[in-house]
Amino acid sequence: MPTVRIAPSLLSADFVRLAEEVRRVEDAGADWLHVDVMDGHFVPNLTIGLPVVEALKKVARRPLDVHIMISNPLDYARRYVEAGADVLTFHAEACAEPRAVIDVIRAAGGKPALAINPNTPIERVEPCLDAVAMVLVMSVYPGFGGQKFMPEVLPKLTALRAAGFAGDLEIDGGIGPSTIAAAAQAGANVFVAGSAIFGAPDLSARIGELRRAAEAAAVRTAAGAR
Ligand code: DX5
Ligand code: ZN
Repeated sequence: MPTVRIAPSLLSADFVRLAEEVRRVEDAGADWLHVDVMDGHFVPNLTIGLPVVEALKKVARRPLDVHIMISNPLDYARRYVEAGADVLTFHAEACAEPRAVIDVIRAAGGKPALAINPNTPIERVEPCLDAVAMVLVMSVYPGFGGQKFMPEVLPKLTALRAAGFAGDLEIDGGIGPSTIAAAAQAGANVFVAGSAIFGAPDLSARIGELRRAAEAAAVRTAAGAR
């Protein structure tokens, strides 16, 4: 059973105090720090870019899980790894040749991951399953935090595990105490949560609650599979 990891999305942090927010969420038990890069073209929003990833790397004590929602990942992948991305996730919809991007990420020393939008089938990632460290199944259309979880994407997680994918399987969008168990049961083990963590009064309690719910659901699934 792959390790459960909770990855708070810094998109919901207070950008004025980003270093303090990183420390706060790390002290509360975050496993990875999820960083949302948006280009105003692949998605209808602009967030942060290379200089902020570099700045985050200086203060982060946990791996940076950088999610690039950009149109031309091949042009930028190496620079995001050099800026500090430990895991670099790009979108299958944004490139015809994902293998080329995967190779660039590995050559730069990063872990490559492929993301698919809610309306993209897993066939788009299947040819690369042997080459990626992680697959990200989006459970909202990317662009904004605080959107409603789309349960209709869950069969894609189950299908990826049924196809034998044993790497990290991440889910991103609308994850919180009421949705995380279903995602874990379907096969996810890395959980991005923005508003559900930064919007909670007690970050440590919320991360603990999410972790326990995910672990309990994963144990139930494993027991059911036996
Ligand atoms: C959406 C981003 C997410 C977002 C998640 O485009 O990729 O990482 O920050 O936010 P919540 O958890 O609030 O849905
Ligand atoms: Zn994201």
